[in-house]
Parts: sequence; C-alpha cells; structure tokens
Amino acid sequence: MSDLRPSPLAPPGSTAGAMPGRVLVIGSGYLAGHIAARLTGLGVETVLSSRSAPVLPESRGMRWARVDVTSRPQVAALMEAIQPDAVVAVHGPSDITWCEAHPEEAYATHHGGARNIAAALDGRPVLLVSTDNVFPGEAESHGESAQTSPANAYGRAKLAAERELLATSCALVLRVSLVYGWEDRGPRPNFLTSVARSLMRGERLRIPDDHWNTPVLVADVAAWTAALMRSGRTGTLHLGGPRRIGRVDWARHIARQLGADPALIVPTPRAGTAYACRPRNACLHSEVAAQLPELRRHRPVDVLEATHALTF
Ligand SMILES: NC(=O)c1ccc[n+]([C@@H]2O[C@H](COP(=O)([O-])OP(=O)(O)OC[C@H]3O[C@@H](n4cnc5c(N)ncnc54)[C@H](OP(=O)(O)O)[C@@H]3O)[C@@H](O)[C@H]2O)c1
Repeated sequence: MSDLRPSPLAPPGSTAGAMPGRVLVIGSGYLAGHIAARLTGLGVETVLSSRSAPVLPESRGMRWARVDVTSRPQVAALMEAIQPDAVVAVHGPSDITWCEAHPEEAYATHHGGARNIAAALDGRPVLLVSTDNVFPGEAESHGESAQTSPANAYGRAKLAAERELLATSCALVLRVSLVYGWEDRGPRPNFLTSVARSLMRGERLRIPDDHWNTPVLVADVAAWTAALMRSGRTGTLHLGGPRRIGRVDWARHIARQLGADPALIVPTPRAGTAYACRPRNACLHSEVAAQLPELRRHRPVDVLEATHALTF
C-alpha cells in the first residue's frame, strides 16, 4: 500500500538556483504555451511537442517537435533528439467530460504517456501538471496530505500518471485547480472566456449551482512552474487560487464586469449538465507553499480581482 501514501515535498535538489538550459515541454496547448512563453522569457531554450503543431498565440515562433506520447519509441527518440535538461509534462486530454466518455483513451495517454516519459528520463527532472480531480471532492478543499480517491476517469488517469513519474524519484507533481485566463483563440476556451463570449452574445447559460473551484490564473501556473524548475524539488505540491467560489457566483461576477444581465445565468444542478462527472469541490490549497522561498514572490491572484482586471 506504500504507493497510496501522499508523496511529501522534498527539499531543493542539488542544482537548486540554476534554471535548466533547455526544457522539453510535452504538450503544446493552453498551459504548455503559457509555461513555454514564461520559460523562454527567462532565457530558457524551450521546445514544445505534441501530435499536431500548436495553434495558440503564446506558442507562435517557438520550436516544436512532433510526438505521440503514447508511443514509447517516439518519446525515446524525442528525448534523444532534444537532450533536454528538464521536462514539463503538460499534455492532454484535459476535457474532463470527454475523458469520462473515453476512459481507456484518457488512461492510455495520461498513464501510458507518463510511463513512456519515465522510461526515457535518464535521471532528468520532470514536472507533471496534475489536477484536483484526483480527490473525491467531499471536503471543501484538499491539501497535499489529503487521501486521493479520484472523482472520475480523468482523475484516475492523472493519478496513475503521477505514480509513474513519482516512482522515478525525479518528479515534482504540481496539482493545479481549474485554470482561467482570457483565451479567445483556442479550440476549447476556458470557463472565463466561454462564459464571457456567451454573455456578450446575450445567450442564457445553465451553470451548475453545486460545483466549487479554487480557480488559478494561467500566468500563476506558468510563474510557479518556472520558479519550481529552478528549485529542483520533488514530491507533490498544490496550486489553488486563494478564493473558493461557486460557478454561479463566478459567472454572475463576469456578467457584472461585462455590463451583461446576470439573469442570463441560470443555476442548474450539475447532475443534468456536462459537469455531472466533476467532484462537488474541485478545490486545492497548499499546506507547504507559503514556506517555500522560491514561491515568495508568486502569490496567486484572487479570481474576482483578476476577472475584474481583465479587459474583454
Ligand atoms: N486547463 C486546466 O484547467 C488544467 C488544470 C489542471 C491540470 N491540467 C492539466 O494540464 C494538462 C494540459 O491542459 P491544457 O488545458 O493545456 O490542455 P490542452 O489545451 O487541451 O492541451 C493539451 C495538449 O496535449 C497534447 N496531446 C494530447 N494528446 C497527446 C498525445 N497523445 N501525445 C502528445 N501530445 C498530446 C495536445 O496536442 P495534440 O492533440 O496535437 O497532440 C495539446 O497540445 C492536462 O494534462 C491537464 O490534465 C489542466
């Protein structure tokens, strides 16, 4: 049963303080693009990778290599070609509803992909971006010491991926709550963007009234990832935003910011919606982050303040 124990955060590694010179990012979607842009801005040579070329503006002009993470030979060949100093695993599928309908494919990509990355690491550090869906969601929020028990197929696949990488002793698992930001160009815009777009068109929206998150601004995910890569820690760490908020309250706040009618938001039990498989509380907090010197300058912003500051 030893693999069921939470994996505590270890002290900084022997290379602490030095940023890796070259980072391979597996994935080239929403989070990958923002993380890669942050790393590039810090002078890190960054290579994105996925099955098809990136489409988001953050990734424009970045080096990209083709890989299907479910193929062990392809992952090994990619690692050999790029020779990264560190790896960020931030590949999909990230659509929780899709994963529930396609559990085998979700498991094959998250768990199988992690197993292939682990096999090719050769001692390199890896940071896996994981999720709050590894928890059942009965408690209002979950710290690193909470017992995992995945809420759905997505959570099972991500927890299996975590275990594959933690077994290498080279991994930091960064569990991140629901990520938001203004993202008008992606194929599957996040909650903030899709609610804002619908409200601007005057559409009514059925939003679950029994689903809570601790939303995290995408820039905070990128900032934490970069800071943690410099410290070389291993183990498990949580990144949740400082405010626990229900989706209805968040959507109404967005409506007020836009000058739209908050009555367009129709509260609905999540059971009858695409949110049915999500835990009641998809919320994270950290029991240790406030003590980590590398994160001192990176306090996550409050979702209401960030939403207020975004210009639509
Ligand atoms: N967004 C969130 O709120 C959030 C919160 C917590 C954790 N996460 C985690 O962060 C990761 C990325 O999320 P995201 O929002 O950035 O998702 P995303 O925008 O959908 O990006 C997913 C990326 O993964 C790539 N991918 C999918 N299957 C692949 C495969 N077999 N081989 C190689 N690449 C593959 C996709 O490109 P191709 O399809 O072209 O291969 C795409 O570039 C996910 O693992 C998710 O669990 C996300």
